[in-house]
Amino acid sequence: MAVRSLAYIRVQSRDLSAWSRFAETVVGAAATMDDDGKRLLLRIDARPWRFRIELADTDRYLCAGLECAGEADYLAVLDRVRNAGVTITDGDPVGTRERHVQAFASFNDPAGNAIELCWGNTIAGTPFVSPIGVPSFVTGEMGFGHVVLPTDKYIETRAFYKDLLGFGDSDEMRVYFPGGPEKGLGMSFMHAAGPRHHAVAVGEFPAPSGLIHTMVEVPSVDDVGLAYDRALAAGVHISSTIGRHTNDKMLSFYMRTPSGFDIEYGCDGQQFPDWSVVTPTFTIKEDLWGHKWDFSQ
Ligand SMILES: [Fe+2]
Repeated sequence: MAVRSLAYIRVQSRDLSAWSRFAETVVGAAATMDDDGKRLLLRIDARPWRFRIELADTDRYLCAGLECAGEADYLAVLDRVRNAGVTITDGDPVGTRERHVQAFASFNDPAGNAIELCWGNTIAGTPFVSPIGVPSFVTGEMGFGHVVLPTDKYIETRAFYKDLLGFGDSDEMRVYFPGGPEKGLGMSFMHAAGPRHHAVAVGEFPAPSGLIHTMVEVPSVDDVGLAYDRALAAGVHISSTIGRHTNDKMLSFYMRTPSGFDIEYGCDGQQFPDWSVVTPTFTIKEDLWGHKWDFSQ
């Protein structure tokens, strides 16, 4: 009884047209403005949307929608969260309809990261067509990708996702930097019930935007390279050059979104259909190659 995948994220932005341009001309998502002009829905697959960008007076990440495979799992996970003394707000009918789910409920992890737990797979009923010609995004039962969340309560936050939401360890690393703590800073990569290497990771880093990064996956290295070219042409800040991670083998680059957090845009992420035969790893070198970071912005 566990979360299966990352279904969606919600984001706040002061500039929906900047997000629309970024989504359509760089990411390759299809952007649709809500009737009232206050919400931008980004579609990357058969679901009606995976990113909802909401007009506000601040730019920040709001929450992750974590999906259970069905109602029984959803209720079992919610029970565990409730029994742990976490305050839960049940989703209302309008919010449920807007999210294209059967039910959802909101609560925070120990670090204050907002979660919406949900179940129910609604398909749009029309084909996804990328406005820039991305052939597809790698989603399906694995969800759309992953989120890497900040925490100042590393142990508790990690335990929350594992003990209450049913995640398992995929990989852990310690990040060392000059002037940083001697024991380094922890990053924990956790898998949901689905085969994606990690759907949620937590890192002992601050993130003023509310999110360290989110990831979308495309089918081939050419799709990653083409997106890299589009990001450069659009003047988008490249937070990290192309490289391949050691833990999930993702070949990717990172770019800054209009809401201040990064999108990792990658391919080749490892998949594990049977987690019972997988031993979690400890990574001592973050990348096999590449991924040179630019923290100037
Ligand atoms: Fe990532």
